[in-house]
Amino acid sequence: MQSAPKTTSARSGRHFLQIPGPTNVPDRVLRAMDRPTIDHRGPEFAKLTLEVFEGLRPVFGTRGPVLIFPSSGTGAWEAAIVNTLKAGDRVLMFETGQFATLWKRLAERLGLAVDFVPGDWRRGVDPAVVEARLADDRQGAIRAVMVVHNETSTGVTTRIPSIRQAIDRARHPALLMVDTISSLGSIDYRHADWGVDVSVACSQKGLMLPPGLGLNAVSDKALAAARQGGMPRSYWDWEDMLKNNTSGFFPYTPATNLLYGLREALAMLREQGLPAVFARHARHAEATRCAVRAWGLEILCAEPAEYSPVLTAVMMPAGHDAETFRAAALSRFDMSLGVGLGRLAGKVFRIGHLGDFNDLTLVGTLGGVEMGLAIAGVPHRPGGVQAAMTFLSGDAPL
Ligand SMILES: Cc1ncc(COP(=O)(O)O)c(C=O)c1O
Repeated sequence: MQSAPKTTSARSGRHFLQIPGPTNVPDRVLRAMDRPTIDHRGPEFAKLTLEVFEGLRPVFGTRGPVLIFPSSGTGAWEAAIVNTLKAGDRVLMFETGQFATLWKRLAERLGLAVDFVPGDWRRGVDPAVVEARLADDRQGAIRAVMVVHNETSTGVTTRIPSIRQAIDRARHPALLMVDTISSLGSIDYRHADWGVDVSVACSQKGLMLPPGLGLNAVSDKALAAARQGGMPRSYWDWEDMLKNNTSGFFPYTPATNLLYGLREALAMLREQGLPAVFARHARHAEATRCAVRAWGLEILCAEPAEYSPVLTAVMMPAGHDAETFRAAALSRFDMSLGVGLGRLAGKVFRIGHLGDFNDLTLVGTLGGVEMGLAIAGVPHRPGGVQAAMTFLSGDAPL
């Protein structure tokens, strides 16, 4: 008799990719990318890009320019900085978690002087602190306020309109830059209405694409700052990019097949309607929290008004290692859950519930978590999946 193969590649059924990005790529998007690469200087390509830019603007909530770089999100962070700020400029940033910390490190490497407001990685940016820091800056030395909208390492969402209001109350001219990397296309976001100057995003989260595209949406004020200065730059230069984009082209070879995918993903978001997409994420997040509470485990986010609609970070009971649990869920159920990042390593696991996702994917995910907790010997109460199902099958709107 043959023994059962042990490799994951021989498994049947689909891998559950429940990390908070990269997210599951819908079949429609995969099929859209499965095409020959075309001449990126030909008319068919220009039509594709112009369509993509048109489709992206409503997702950011802007009528202004959106730039697409062949890059990860980190590249889009860098583009935001090098176009608008120069070495030695002071900026205000907030320690909301690992990604805020990494953006700060990048800013410092580029020579910015960062005022980094410490945080406990369990809540978002406090608008009162923003207002107080800016009110103290009577010389207007702070050139930018830089905030992560949805902290993917913690599952905490900062309320950006309240940050805008704080800046306005302080009557401060700083640029507002927002990392929307794990919020765009999943959580309500309004670049123009919220007075954001640079929104930073990428492809592999709410846009349901593979990694490989970094995005910036920019305000007139940010464009003016770029025209007047910024840092030495070439690859990330907005001006060069925008000049080429006007006619549907890029200053260098773009990620053609990802753009096919982006066109399809934008069509899917349009068909569902953004309000329905946001409501779906909020609903799946609440169902997930119902499960976590029923298990008797603690949600990392300490402020209910800041619960993330796209992921839930769950704290491990003392003395239990999140990595042992995650490894059990992977080897037994072929499900990837998010790792604890930075100072949360081993202390939390993260359930991604964003992108191409529905009620039954969530129930399967939570089933894997509940069984994984049992297998890994993590103390918990049963009934989390049932609590989520009760919520999902109740009268909550779809
Ligand atoms: C909020 C946030 N910002 C920035 C990044 C960095 O993006 P990338 O890994 O694509 O460079 C991530 C990645 O997960 C993120 O979640």
